[in-house]
Amino acid sequence: MKWKIRQEAEGDEPAIAQVTAAAFAGKPYADGNEADLPAKLRSAGALVLSLVAVQGKTIIGHVALSPARIGDTKCLGLGPVSVHPDMQGRGIGSALVNHALAVAGAYGRGGVALTGDPAFYGRLGFVQDGDVTYQGMPSKHVQIAGFADPPKGDLQFHAAFNE
Ligand SMILES: CC(C)(COP(=O)(O)OP(=O)(O)OC[C@H]1O[C@@H](n2cnc3c(N)ncnc32)[C@H](O)[C@@H]1OP(=O)(O)O)[C@@H](O)C(=O)NCCC(=O)NCCS
Repeated sequence: MKWKIRQEAEGDEPAIAQVTAAAFAGKPYADGNEADLPAKLRSAGALVLSLVAVQGKTIIGHVALSPARIGDTKCLGLGPVSVHPDMQGRGIGSALVNHALAVAGAYGRGGVALTGDPAFYGRLGFVQDGDVTYQGMPSKHVQIAGFADPPKGDLQFHAAFNE
């Protein structure tokens, strides 16, 4: 059955947590905070965009955008992004990220930053230029997209990421 992407709707919250938990389960880079993060951002009023991938009525993927900063520059932080393990490798994760970038750009908030694997995000237009650090450390996993003037400085996600 074909899947589609839509904005989150009331009642989606438990399924978003579940798909996030399933996607990050057992990942060595997971910190255990991921499944709670969409709810924390939502209750903080910081869930700027929350898109779900659905197949029929089943939520099979999710992506969030929230306020972030790079140095003094306001931008959007992308993540977490999750696709249920049974549904990975079908273009759903790429479509979720591309939709999030398109919506951010359409609202004039094109600058998006994230930490993640450049092997995945590099294909979606993200770059790392060495001028953006994360928690003070230079990292090839700190990536940006959509900035007219690429900022410099330390990437800071919303406080919910550190709760
Ligand atoms: C990352 C994720 C969202 C991608 O979703 P997806 O629907 O499988 O992605 P797509 O089908 O659009 O793209 C799949 C491609 O990305 C690659 N890919 C997926 N995750 C990757 C990763 N963490 N690092 C490198 N490449 C990755 C796959 O190998 C595949 O490559 P191929 O097309 O050459 O075979 C999904 O794998 C996921 O939920 N992973 C667990 C949670 C996670 O790591 N989230 C991102 C944290 S930064």
